[in-house]
Amino acid sequence: MCGIVGYIGENQATEVILEGLQKLEYRGYDSSGVAIHNTKGLVVKKMAGRLSNLISSIEKDPINGNLGIGHTRWATHGVPSDENAHPHTNKAGTIAVVHNGIIENYMTLKKELMEKGYEFKSDTDTEIVVNLLDMYYEGDLLKAVFKAVERLRGAYALGIISSNNPDELIAVRKESPLILGIGEGELFVASDIPAILNRTRRVIYLENGDIVRLSREGYTIYDSEKHVVQREVNEILWDVEAATKDGFDHFMIKEIYQQPSAIKDTLFRRLDDNGDIYLENINIDKKYLDSINKIYVVACGTAYHAGLVGKHVLEKFLEVPVIAEIASEFRYGNNFVDDKTLMIVISQSGETADTLAALRLAKAKGARILSITNVVGSSVARESDDIFYTWAGPEIAVASTKAYTTQLVAFYMMALNFGKLKGTLDEKLYNDYLQELKEISEKVGYTLKKVEDLAKEVANKVKDKRSLFYIGRGLDYYTAMEGALKLKEISYIQAEAFAAGELKHGTIALIEEDTPVIAIATQQEMYEKMVSNIKEVKARGAYTIGITSINNADLENVCDKVIYIEDTISNYMPLLSAIFLQLLAYYTAVVKGNDVDKPRNLAKSVTVE
Ligand code: G6P
Repeated sequence: MCGIVGYIGENQATEVILEGLQKLEYRGYDSSGVAIHNTKGLVVKKMAGRLSNLISSIEKDPINGNLGIGHTRWATHGVPSDENAHPHTNKAGTIAVVHNGIIENYMTLKKELMEKGYEFKSDTDTEIVVNLLDMYYEGDLLKAVFKAVERLRGAYALGIISSNNPDELIAVRKESPLILGIGEGELFVASDIPAILNRTRRVIYLENGDIVRLSREGYTIYDSEKHVVQREVNEILWDVEAATKDGFDHFMIKEIYQQPSAIKDTLFRRLDDNGDIYLENINIDKKYLDSINKIYVVACGTAYHAGLVGKHVLEKFLEVPVIAEIASEFRYGNNFVDDKTLMIVISQSGETADTLAALRLAKAKGARILSITNVVGSSVARESDDIFYTWAGPEIAVASTKAYTTQLVAFYMMALNFGKLKGTLDEKLYNDYLQELKEISEKVGYTLKKVEDLAKEVANKVKDKRSLFYIGRGLDYYTAMEGALKLKEISYIQAEAFAAGELKHGTIALIEEDTPVIAIATQQEMYEKMVSNIKEVKARGAYTIGITSINNADLENVCDKVIYIEDTISNYMPLLSAIFLQLLAYYTAVVKGNDVDKPRNLAKSVTVE
């Protein structure tokens, strides 16, 4: 976790770094800091709390200098505090380090360093890095870094400067993401592109194990064997505007409203001249599909919920068993991954550590890896055999919305394409499904308009509740899981999802007078059973809210409120029912006065296991 920015050039480093850190707050925001080199040596300012605290403090007391590093933190080792905030320095204050990731062997190294007389001011694993550098430093910063890195185990991206080497910045990338930005007479390192996009569009995605030395003359990249290597320079074509709010109050609502166009982009850019699906970056053919005996779908959080819907449609169209697993649990199961397994990983950021670990494990066992990700060049993308980019544009709000719906579209497109290739989905059904998919972005747009005021109304009704239940059957159960997660993430109200038929086996004991129960009832074949389940909670005093596209008085009779969404084929209903649940979560968080885009305790990209 955490975000890093580093700068060397002719401009004021603090300005560049703080601007960059603001764009990286989605990576963590419980403390922040900078280290700038100037005539006084290294000037470090760091503090707990939001980045805005650091910015106002620096505004009052500016730090000049044109070499520096900065950091925004999401705590792993040690609570958010001034001491634990980065950068960390050695005792003499001559070396400063910012770090993203986890040093796994830090306890052993700390013990060794303490025996050598090193003292520690913080609880972080990062402080061992700076002390290791101090131990190995003999005037050449790069050499010290080479030596220190050999001792480190774990995942880390590092930015390092020293007052004794005023013309260089060293950065290291191992597992945690890091890019190098190339400007005119200036160089940048950052955890992600938006941090530097205002300054340059020329970017190198550093590879695992790369160490880069930035100086006023240019940069040199060394691979993990310490050989000088050339890496491709990429021109970033998307705009920094895409990462700003565009007049919306929050990124989340902006991203909710971007869904019709994000879905369109994901879909229409993959249709050939005949309007048929063409999956670029995926080289799966009939022979391969006939050869596999199972598919694993693995992800975390919202992406996992998209995976559950994916499991449903893949099984249906491909007639192959699909196992959906939470990435952090994947390795503990007795999984049956082999070379006849297709593993589909889903990750908006493409950097989630749990997802990456599962991917690597499956790859080592011979599985073919197909990833669905939103970030081009991300670790997940680079380690996969086949890639489906969702092209939803940068998602900034921690609570995922447009990434989720475009992940659903990715699954629909792949299931249709693979089913047709394999011959398990007949032509007529394929054509009908594809036609309907082409119309879905408009239906998402209509649904948004139709339900927004209702979402505000329900938000006011539930805002002070202690807990809420979400129920559904089949695909609606998966939507319930996603809806409950959305509400928890940003409104901090306890919300639990249940398979509607399971409630009576225990959880119904929690239903009391006025407990809100959100019932998703979009699946025609399960409709009657859903109505019965809603009756059961209604009879125990629940305040019931139904979500459906089915016009039938039965639901009106058992629900205090019915939210009508647009209609589509049952397999696509999760795309439309999710819209109301996203808006409900959003407006509940807004009326509660919560920090919608940066909810407490969470981070957008979780790069620790
Ligand atoms: C974090 C985010 C979630 C997200 C999950 C997986 O926990 O807060 O919103 O669903 O990570 O992220 P990924 O980038 O792998 O989709």
